[in-house]
Amino acid sequence: MPSSVTGAFLSRGGQVHARNKLCAMPTPPIRVRAPGKINIFLQVGAVQDDGYHDLATAFQALSLWEEVDAAPAATITVEVEGPGDLSSVPRDDRNLAVRAARLLAATTGYDGGVALTIRKTVPVAGGMGGGSADAAATLVACDALWQTGLSSADLTRLAARLGADVPFALRGGTAIGTGRGDRLSPALTGGGFDWVLATSDDGLSTPAVYRALDEHRDEHAPDIGRAPDAPVVDPEVLYALRAGDPARLAEALRNDLQAPALRLRPALGETIALGERHGALAGIVSGSGPTIAFLAGDPHHARSLADALAREGHRAIPAHGPVHGARIV
Ligand code: C5P
Repeated sequence: MPSSVTGAFLSRGGQVHARNKLCAMPTPPIRVRAPGKINIFLQVGAVQDDGYHDLATAFQALSLWEEVDAAPAATITVEVEGPGDLSSVPRDDRNLAVRAARLLAATTGYDGGVALTIRKTVPVAGGMGGGSADAAATLVACDALWQTGLSSADLTRLAARLGADVPFALRGGTAIGTGRGDRLSPALTGGGFDWVLATSDDGLSTPAVYRALDEHRDEHAPDIGRAPDAPVVDPEVLYALRAGDPARLAEALRNDLQAPALRLRPALGETIALGERHGALAGIVSGSGPTIAFLAGDPHHARSLADALAREGHRAIPAHGPVHGARIV
């Protein structure tokens, strides 16, 4: 962050803080929703000097939401609510929402706190960017609560420092991501798409899935070649998105993290085959998994596919995309 920008934040944050102290009325909590995402295309290039892989990806934000409430408080704290086992979600400084609040406070010179409450719907460690959505929602919520007045470009710069997927959770919609996945440009869509998400109770570690991909490439370089030098999104993905054509998009889905995710969790291959037997246009591992995203032809198809998967013992959630990014509700 350039120091001239930080200086501007500082003076704004200082004035705001003084104003809040004078105000006798309790400030109501700010509520922000941010979406989970899937990668409808993900080509992984080589590891860069910073340890991240060069990527070319197409993100789509889906109607599965994280909700963050930000209430005035003297220090920065977080509570986490929602269905399922949330015991693996840290409540301390490792929590990405807490890091987002701390980063915003440090950047703007704001010296108060916030009580964050996160209501999770996006599966934990599911490859759908739930933690990134929490961070994006927290940036928007704290910026409003603390009246730090950052522009969306400023928030996007902070988001990129928190994680590769956080800028996309701020923006939402459908976008092409390059670099770490954080350099975004919008992709045109000619309508919405219907998906069914088959979730798993046990998450997969994103670094472990990337590591498994690198190991596999190293071992089998003579057969499969090395990582591509300049990953690029297949133009067929862009055509299918623009046409709003799910059958065409189904043919173009690709995720380089799918093979390593399936090697770490072979049962996911059976889930994909099951969904396709029940009429999914295609099934793909979402991000680093283990969530599987099935593409359906329309909302009715998505509902019947979700019912069929549920009858087979899977947790299956219909969702549609694209939806908007982090926003106050
Ligand atoms: O940025 P974020 O914390 O979401 O990334 C989690 C992990 O995923 C990184 O620590 C890295 O191991 C891996 N990753 C990567 N290349 C990317 C994005 C993520 O290797 N472009």
